[in-house]
Amino acid sequence: MTHTVTLIPGDGIGPAITAEVVRILEAAGAPVEWERHEAGLAAVEQGHDLLPQETLDSIERNRYCLKGPLTTPIGAGFRSINVALRKHFDLYANVRPAETMVPGGRYDDIDIVIVRENTEGLYAGIEHYIGMRQDPRAVAESVMLITRYGSDRICRYAFEYAVEHGRKKVTLVHKANILKCTQGLFLEVGREVAKNYADVIEFEDRIVDATAMQLVLDPYQFDVIVTENMFGDILSDLTAGLVGGLGFAPGVNIGKDITIYEAVHGSAPDIAGRGIANPSALLLGACLMLDQMGQRETAGRIRTALKSVVRDGQVVTSDLGGTASTTAFADAIIEAFDAQA
Ligand code: NAI
Repeated sequence: MTHTVTLIPGDGIGPAITAEVVRILEAAGAPVEWERHEAGLAAVEQGHDLLPQETLDSIERNRYCLKGPLTTPIGAGFRSINVALRKHFDLYANVRPAETMVPGGRYDDIDIVIVRENTEGLYAGIEHYIGMRQDPRAVAESVMLITRYGSDRICRYAFEYAVEHGRKKVTLVHKANILKCTQGLFLEVGREVAKNYADVIEFEDRIVDATAMQLVLDPYQFDVIVTENMFGDILSDLTAGLVGGLGFAPGVNIGKDITIYEAVHGSAPDIAGRGIANPSALLLGACLMLDQMGQRETAGRIRTALKSVVRDGQVVTSDLGGTASTTAFADAIIEAFDAQA
């Protein structure tokens, strides 16, 4: 069965890396048809809105979207186009797997998945200044929004993910010892949800600061981590760092029916147009999409080819210590399919 996927090439390095990812998926025989739509700066430059209705309709229709990084122009009217997209489709779960690609770093064989709540917490953006005397910005105040509903659905998602992917343990990360109401509610709900899975999935909870240290000292203790928005943002960069940085960090934003796959990195304006961007993170995002479509074998072939090229180290982009162009790197991945055949 062929799946139609909304493809947003994005801004900066986005069009170059999405073009190579599309080429690699085609060479791998992935049963995907693309429906290209713009968003972000690219849409504005063509006289459209930042998030054109056509693009939103296409995502709504196809339910799968592969998205290049988007630049939010300054003065756009909202904080981030990515946040706006998450809000529009209520993409409440952000899943970021961290898996070792290149052995020989600090740790080998890391395989940790962070499930981050994507809509609440401090990142809900409920904040304001309070003026005092002559200073209109004497105080800044922000609200950490945690709801029972939001905590329940993200924790359920994490456990369901663990069951579906054959994982053993879920660690809920919080700061309930200090933030007794907000983080306390998240923990309380998580413990309730965990009871439903007690026979199949081990459960533990940990304080966020201790988790950060333990992730660096002994990451093998962790399997699936579920946490609120800001802690998830920070810890998922930490786990990306454990496996070689943002160059290998894919992410998925998940709603009730809609999933948007992406690279965690941004549009890299400093190297845009130079043909040297690393397409790996977006390619790994596309592999997650293929997994979800039931195309695990094709996704596996792509991951194996990517790993072999990266481990070989001869034809890799400059961020990985090589001199290859984006296109040459993609060519090498495609050639590595032949070696598997
Ligand atoms: P960035 O991730 O774009 O770049 C940080 C550094 O990493 C830069 O030196 C860049 O050259 C390098 N880099 C990133 N991706 C790379 C790749 N694939 N290959 C080689 N090098 C790579 O972060 P920055 O500079 O903070 O943000 C730039 C723009 O991207 C901003 O407008 C920001 O809003 C947007 N952004 C978009 C995201 C998304 O669409 N998911 C996520 C993060 C930022």
